[in-house]
Amino acid sequence: MSGSDALPQPSGPVPRSPLPAPEGGAPSRRAEAEVHPAFLSRWSPRSFAPDPISPEDLRSLFEAARWAPSSNNTQPWLFLYAQGPEDRARFLEGLHPRNRAWASRAPVLAYLLARTHLPGPPGSGPVPNPFARFDAGAAWMALALQAHFLGLSTHAIGGLRRPEVYSVLGVSPQDYDVIVGIAIGRSGEPTALPGELAAREHPSARKPLSAILHEGALGPPRAG
Ligand SMILES: Cc1cc2nc3c(=O)[nH]c(=O)nc-3n(C[C@H](O)[C@H](O)[C@H](O)COP(=O)(O)O)c2cc1C
Repeated sequence: MSGSDALPQPSGPVPRSPLPAPEGGAPSRRAEAEVHPAFLSRWSPRSFAPDPISPEDLRSLFEAARWAPSSNNTQPWLFLYAQGPEDRARFLEGLHPRNRAWASRAPVLAYLLARTHLPGPPGSGPVPNPFARFDAGAAWMALALQAHFLGLSTHAIGGLRRPEVYSVLGVSPQDYDVIVGIAIGRSGEPTALPGELAAREHPSARKPLSAILHEGALGPPRAG
């Protein structure tokens, strides 16, 4: 490949700062096979520093999401984001109060929506897209990893007040499924969180690989 048609390279190294360990506990993350370190070093803080995110970095997150794979390349995701005080206040109303308590400090809040229907064949109405949520999840992961590459943090939020979300965002549940809210920013000091949350402010462990992986079928073929 010549220099002129070389693809752009990632803009920065993967942060390798040591992960905070749970108080008094063993390190909670260890890989069982070689993986890119970003898979282990990404995690979802609840404490965010209020510093704003540069427009370039913010755009870069959604650009990464844009390149996620999707069924038939339908790209059913839609991201709505808020960074100004009025928009943020409005977006916060859609969160469950438990999540609002910490997410209110994040400089950017976003909602990830999935368009649930596709245009149907000529003469018929829209048809459901069974992969819309799956595809939106892939876009979320791309965004979360790109944020991590840039030294930013993200935290997906499923604990929402869904009717309020549709209302504050001005979208119809007939057109979109609200998948998650997303807090975006730089991780902050755990001590900025209320006590119970401060104690939980560390990367979590995972089930062992053996619990999520099995070679071959799980049982004999089933009738029917
Ligand atoms: C779909 C989804 C919904 C989530 N909802 C919440 C939530 O409502 N509140 C919260 O504090 N964390 C929420 N989380 C964060 C998860 O608890 C977190 O990702 C998980 O414990 C793994 O931790 P890690 O992201 O730090 O690796 C959510 C994550 C996902 C992917």
